[in-house]
Amino acid sequence: MDILLERKSCRSYKTDPVPQEDLDYILHAAMSAPSAMNTRPWHFIVIKNKETHTKIIQIHKASQMLANAPLGIIVCGDVTKQYKNYLQQDCGACTQNMLLGATAKGYGSVWCGIYPIEERVKAFADLLNLPQNIVPFSLVVIGKQSEYIKEKQRWEPEKIRYEKW
Ligand SMILES: Cc1cc2nc3c(=O)[nH]c(=O)nc-3n(C[C@H](O)[C@H](O)[C@H](O)COP(=O)(O)O)c2cc1C
Repeated sequence: MDILLERKSCRSYKTDPVPQEDLDYILHAAMSAPSAMNTRPWHFIVIKNKETHTKIIQIHKASQMLANAPLGIIVCGDVTKQYKNYLQQDCGACTQNMLLGATAKGYGSVWCGIYPIEERVKAFADLLNLPQNIVPFSLVVIGKQSEYIKEKQRWEPEKIRYEKW
């Protein structure tokens, strides 16, 4: 439960690299997400190259924090592997697991949305040379935090109902 309550979006990073062992754990956490009919339609592109980071920041203005972070991971979905139209939910669960995996290993992280913003989807597809069937869903920035992030209070009991609305 602590990891769930501790996770917060981090927008200020140290440049320290993420060891492969920790990166694999975070990717394993992402791959352990639930998916409709267990299709696991996701793919991951790990980007450490700073020139590519600069290009990403140009096409996704709300991903400036990538400038100082050691890496970003693009969560992609394969439209030909999804069950019904559940690709978005599957990739969302996968992205959230990635954030929690990063928190569990002591890293800061933030989910930067790509899909369904059409111009972002197109720009990332071009930048990363994605095949037609692969949709860029989210960018997850990961690294050691360089700022203290205030505790958040999100318990809203008024939103809970039992049995009926
Ligand atoms: C679909 C989605 C898209 C998001 N896109 C961005 C983004 O582009 N840039 C950013 O800094 N944060 C982004 N966020 C993070 C939210 O701003 C953040 O989760 C929210 O403010 C709550 O804060 P918390 O994550 O610290 O609990 C996104 C979150 C989601 C779920």
